[in-house]
This record gives sequence, C-alpha cells and structure tokens, in this order.
Amino acid sequence: MTAQPTNLAGIDLRAEIDRLRKEKNAVILAHYYQKPEIQDLADYIGDSLELSRKAAASEADVIAFCGVKFMAETAKILAPEKIVILPELDAGCSLEDACPPDKFRAFREAHPDHIALTYINCSTEVKALSDVIVTSSSAETILAQIPREQKIIFGPDRHLGGYLNRKFDRDMLLWPGVCIVHEAFSETELIKLKAQHPGAPVAAHPECPPHIVDHADYVGSTSGILNYAKTMTGDTLIVATEPHIIHQMELALPAKTFIGAPGADGNCNCNICPYMALNTLEKLYVALRDLSPQIRIEEGLRLQAKKSLDKMMEMASGTVGKGDLGGRG
Ligand code: 13P
Ligand code: SF4
Repeated sequence: MTAQPTNLAGIDLRAEIDRLRKEKNAVILAHYYQKPEIQDLADYIGDSLELSRKAAASEADVIAFCGVKFMAETAKILAPEKIVILPELDAGCSLEDACPPDKFRAFREAHPDHIALTYINCSTEVKALSDVIVTSSSAETILAQIPREQKIIFGPDRHLGGYLNRKFDRDMLLWPGVCIVHEAFSETELIKLKAQHPGAPVAAHPECPPHIVDHADYVGSTSGILNYAKTMTGDTLIVATEPHIIHQMELALPAKTFIGAPGADGNCNCNICPYMALNTLEKLYVALRDLSPQIRIEEGLRLQAKKSLDKMMEMASGTVGKGDLGGRG
C-alpha cells in the first residue's frame, strides 16, 4: 500500500493541491465514484471513456488520476510521455482481480476462432491479450460493428456481457467476473424502496446483476446515468450504482431527490467502492508534491495493450458519454 501521508496537520490541502497543480502543469482527472472533496477540485470528472479521452488529449505534463489503477494505467498507455500519478497504488478493481492474465491467455487459446472483446476494467496484460476494449458507454456502439457470425469472448464482467447478449441477441462467451459493488444490491430491498417511492424511476449501471437491471427504467454508464437524471421529468430517482455519483446529481439538480439503491442490510454503505475510497485529499497532495506513486508500464507491453485501446477509440468515435446502453436488457 502507498505510504500513509504524515505530518500534514496545518496544511491547507485544497490550496496546496491547487498550487502544485499549477507548478507541475498537472491535470486532475476524477471518476464519478471519487469522494465529493476530490470531485470538487478535479479539472475533469467523467466516466471511463471520457477520462481516457481526456488523458489522451491532455497537454499537461502530469496526469493526477483519481480513480482506480486500471484507469490510471489506461492514461499511461495512451499518453506515455506524461507522468501519471495515482494517489493510492492499491486502488484496484474486483473485475481486474477476477481475470488473471495467464488464465485469460489459456481461455483465449482454448477458443482460437473467437475474438476477445474486453471491458476496460482489466489489467494492462489482459488488454494486451485482447482485440478490442469497450467501456460501458461504448460497448453497444462497438458491438454493433462486429458481424453477428463472429464468435466473441467477453470478459471480465459477466453481467455487462450478459446484458449485451440479452439486449442484442448475441451469444458471446462470458468470463465469470463480477463487480463486488454492483453485485451487492438487493432485489428485495429495491422492491421495498420502489414501493416507498411510487413512480420514481430506477437508473442502473450494467455491471448490476440481471435481477437489478430488470427493475431499471434506464441502464447506462455513469455519465449516462447522470444525463438521465438531468433529463428525467420526475422529482425522485433511485440510483443503482456507486453512490458517490449522487454528488454530481445534487449539484446539478438541487431540487430533486436521489436515493442510492440499497444493499442486503437495507442501506447502501456496502455499495461504496472500497478501491475508489482509498484515494484521499491527503494522498493526492502527497502524490502531486512527490510525483509518486507513478504508473510505469514496460514499453513492449504498453504497445501491445495500446492496439486494443486504439481499436476502441476508433470504433467508439461518435460515442459521447450519454450511456448508449439506455433501456432495459
Ligand atoms: P463507467 O465507465 O460507467 O464510469 O464505469 C466504470 C466503473 O468502474 C463502474 O464500476
Ligand atoms: Fe471495479 Fe466495481 Fe469499483 Fe468499478 S465499482 S472500480 S467495477 S470494484
């Protein structure tokens, strides 16, 4: 784990982060699942596709990535000349953990007539073993360009893959990974919550299992869910994704009510991503001050992984973070 910052008492972290950002020509990118205090000082907030695009296009010398490791690695793959720092190197992802590269390689070798369409929530090694990367906001656009007769392996998220299979009547072979955060929503508690708020729509991320997605009025990426909140006509929305995204909803729509979908115990604390939560203002300050921890990727591996990411960028062009997965699976 990254060393815990010490002796930071008395430091105005926000002012210091601001000073360091200018001094080091750094851009701060934050995912919607970051704590509100990090979202509030980021230069850009976005979903995985938007943040990848920002990283690739940035003119900054330093990218301070407030998200999880696969996101910061994606930034480094796309912008190798930049220093990419991640406040907490242990900020991983259960989907990445569920897909060890050696097992993924063996799976691919066992299915030589399949291409690998792979969710961006995976290691650089798995990206290097893949043909095309997708994010939740680009998956539909990309899948539509792949001929129906082409056999496909989809990993590591079996719920996103299953959702795409159902919605587009495909039969992609699914890797058995799940997101521990979206897996924790309870259907029973969601039904109770809907009964307490009759008429309130449910917006869900496609990483949710089918028994949650089946109750959703809208299914899409984090940006897609945010856009749905901005365009809905009602005054209450039930949000079935990591609850820190609600911060942006409350800022944009202070008169509306946003309720996080519950876990099995009836509250939604179990749906806070424990990896995203490892980043703090203190660690961001130290990372900018010391330009450490840095993301480093061996060049041969980076170039191999870049091929599948470049393919995503090419095939996703035109996809804006509007949550192309709109509608039921
Ligand atoms: P988005 O691309 O929708 O932001 O999803 C990223 C993620 O990790 C969701 O759990
Ligand atoms: Fe990974 Fe789930 Fe956390 Fe997203 S919410 S980073 S998929 S563990």
